[in-house]
Parts: sequence; structure tokens; C-alpha cells
Amino acid sequence: MKTLTVLGSTGSIGTSTLDVVRRNRHLYEVFALVAGQNIDTLAGQILEFRPKVAAVATSEGLNRLSQRLADSSLPKSEWPELLWGAEARIATATATQVDTVISAIVGVSGLEATYEAIRLGKRVGLANKEVLVSCGKLVMDAVRECGAELVPVDSEHNGAHQCLRAGNREQVARLILTASGGPFRNTPREALASVTPEQALNHPTWRMGNRITIDCATLMNKGFEVIEACWLFDFAPSQVDVVIHPQSTVHAMIEYSDGSVLAQIAATDMRMPIQYALTYPGRAEAPVPKINWTEARKWEFLPPDMEKFPLLKLAYECQSAGGSATCTLNAADEIAVEAFLQQKIGFLAIHEVVSETLSKMPVRHPRTVGEVLEIDAESRVMARELVAARTAGVVTA
Ligand SMILES: NC(=O)c1ccc[n+]([C@@H]2O[C@H](COP(=O)([O-])OP(=O)(O)OC[C@H]3O[C@@H](n4cnc5c(N)ncnc54)[C@H](OP(=O)(O)O)[C@@H]3O)[C@@H](O)[C@H]2O)c1
Repeated sequence: MKTLTVLGSTGSIGTSTLDVVRRNRHLYEVFALVAGQNIDTLAGQILEFRPKVAAVATSEGLNRLSQRLADSSLPKSEWPELLWGAEARIATATATQVDTVISAIVGVSGLEATYEAIRLGKRVGLANKEVLVSCGKLVMDAVRECGAELVPVDSEHNGAHQCLRAGNREQVARLILTASGGPFRNTPREALASVTPEQALNHPTWRMGNRITIDCATLMNKGFEVIEACWLFDFAPSQVDVVIHPQSTVHAMIEYSDGSVLAQIAATDMRMPIQYALTYPGRAEAPVPKINWTEARKWEFLPPDMEKFPLLKLAYECQSAGGSATCTLNAADEIAVEAFLQQKIGFLAIHEVVSETLSKMPVRHPRTVGEVLEIDAESRVMARELVAARTAGVVTA
């Protein structure tokens, strides 16, 4: 039986993780559930999964959670230990009872807890992409030094992980990551200036948190995945290709040195890679309906338009630049996406804010997670200033 901590249990990945657990109660015990602000969902999860510890982002959230549990049928003697804040996140991920951590907080708030779990050599199912985008070198150094098992949950990297098991790493030539192309795949560039958050949140194939959904619309998400893939599988940026595949059924492909390509294909449902991250190297019965190969289907593969979606190109440039460039890329993008969702800036201004922030922040080479978080914070300040400068006038594209 595996004992889990779920960081980000109330989010899209977190709730899918708990659904996998729900279907395999004999295989998994939940030690800790960690959430941000969504107290109602967390309280429901506590009643169902009965963790030993529950943690939230703030003391105010903790008070609300206590009240919510007091109003429930759960006797106080059966409540989990209730904690809040960054130290609590680390404590839940590093507890001796825990062997597997699902890292599914959005943003760098999940970084320290994930890093410390890795340093203790635990199995980490990694969804939180900001961990590798912001801090790839330190995280991968820790994986190697501490013998941790980092199994990617992101469907593309999970697919690559599966394809790489088929051959020798030295015989691998390149990785091909697929992208749905997002809601604006067929939208002319001129029309992107006036698209709304509602349109951008309407992802054609996946239902996810708001930030990643907007990042899919700009292809920034695919850029982050290129960066993550370089760290996870030791590729140079030039060895990672992106191909638009609107059906999102082929998740990744590995090309071997003789030109043979292996593809990983599975239902478009995050419970598939989540379950793989939990059961690897074993496998369990599919948590979702399998692909029906007797039905006719058509799959397309198209090149991405880097001019229309310049954030993808910027991600390649940042990974090639090395150091803190990708940390700044992520921080600035998060601020720009937030501003777009609040209708302070237009869709095309997301790229402008990110590239201007990068041009103003010198590339540094952080040696600790603390330094990474400092660079992240400074980059956010810079990006916020650039957003404020724009909103001081009329909202522009
Ligand atoms: N969704 C997908 O299909 C998918 C696929 C690949 C990778 N990812 C990556 O996985 C991560 C999670 O994505 P998501 O779509 O699940 O996001 P989401 O639905 O927005 O969920 C984010 C989770 O993080 C929690 N959280 C946020 N700030 C926190 C804090 N300070 N302390 C503790 N918890 C905090 C949220 O808690 P509250 O809701 O309680 O505030 C929520 O549980 C992201 O990095 C994303 O890029 C997601």
C-alpha cells in the first residue's frame, strides 16, 4: 500500500488524483491533503479520504476549515491535524510515513515542498510544471544525488517517459511533444488582439486550471513543456520538437537514431498519466474507457506557428540562455496571464509583458531554492510594473 501526500488536492490534477485513489482504495492511503483557498472542496475530501493531516495556504483559511469541520458530522477526535503555510506544505511532503507525493500545486508555491520531498528520495509524481521551469537544474541535481523517482504527470512527458522505456537512451535522437494548438489554432493573428478571457479559457480538448488553460492558448504551456522535457530527459532544446495535434491523443513521440518513432497514445484524460505515476513500473486497469480502435478516426500533425505564438519561441531561447531566464519567463507569464484574466491587458500583451520583463532582468545562476524564489519575486515585481504602466493608459493589445 502506498501512502500519499497530494499537494494541490482541490485543483484539477488533485481531484483527478483522488479519483484514481477512490478507484483503488486497497492500493493507496492518503496521509495529507494540501490546498490553497478552496475550503469547501477540501472539507469534502477530508470527510471522504480521512487524511492524517490537512494544510491550507493561510491562517484565515485554516479558521474557515475548522469551522467547516465543526459544522460537519466528523467528531473532533477524528479530525486530521490542521496546518497552514509554506512550512506546513514542506512538512506534509517530507513526513516519514509518506512514500509518494503528487505535486499538483499551481505556481512556485509548490516548489519548496516538492524539492524537499525529492531530497528525501521519495517518489514524486510531478504535475506542477513551475518546479522544473523555475528551478530545473537544482531539482534534477537533487533527483540524481538523492535517488528520488521523479515521474512526470504532464501527459506529454508521461508519454515520453513511457516511450523511453522501449530503448537505450544513447539511441534516442529527439523528442516530439504534441500540442492541441489551443482555442486559437485557426484564429488569424490580427484577431488575437481582441480575444476575451472567456474565449481563451475555452480549451478544445482539456479541462484544466485557469492559468494553464491560458498558457495553452498562447502556446506558453508548450514552451514550458519543452523546458521541462530538457531537464527531465537531458535533451538540448534543439532535440525537442513541438507538433500541433488537435486530437490530443498521441501525447509524445520518441525518435530513435535509425529514424524509428515510438508514440504513446492514450485517452485524453489526466487520470491516465496520474495513475501511471502512482503505479510505475507496474500498471493497473485503465481508470477511463480505452480507445476503441474499431471506430474510424483521423489524426492530424501540423507545424506550430512560432510567429503567431511567439511565447513558444521565447521558451526555446530562455532554455538555451540557461540560468534564471526560465524562472523569469514563468514568473512574468503568471503575472501577465493574471492581468489578462482581469482584463487589464489584451491577449497579445501577454507576450509583450513577458519579453520586456526578460529584457530587464539580468540572467543569474541561483545556487539555492531560496535564490530561485528571490529571482521569481523580483521578476514578478518587474512584470507587475510593466502591467501597471500599460493599465495607466487604456488597455492595449
Ligand atoms: N490540469 C491539467 O490537466 C494539468 C496538466 C499538466 C500539468 N498541469 C500542471 O499542474 C499544476 C496544477 O494544475 P491544475 O490545472 O490542477 O491547477 P488548478 O486546478 O488551478 O489547481 C491548483 C491547485 O493548487 C492549489 N494551490 C494554489 N496555491 C496554493 C498555495 N499557496 N498553497 C497550497 N495550495 C495551493 C490550489 O488550491 P485551491 O484551489 O484550494 O486554492 C489547487 O488545489 C500546474 O502547475 C499545471 O501547469 C496541469
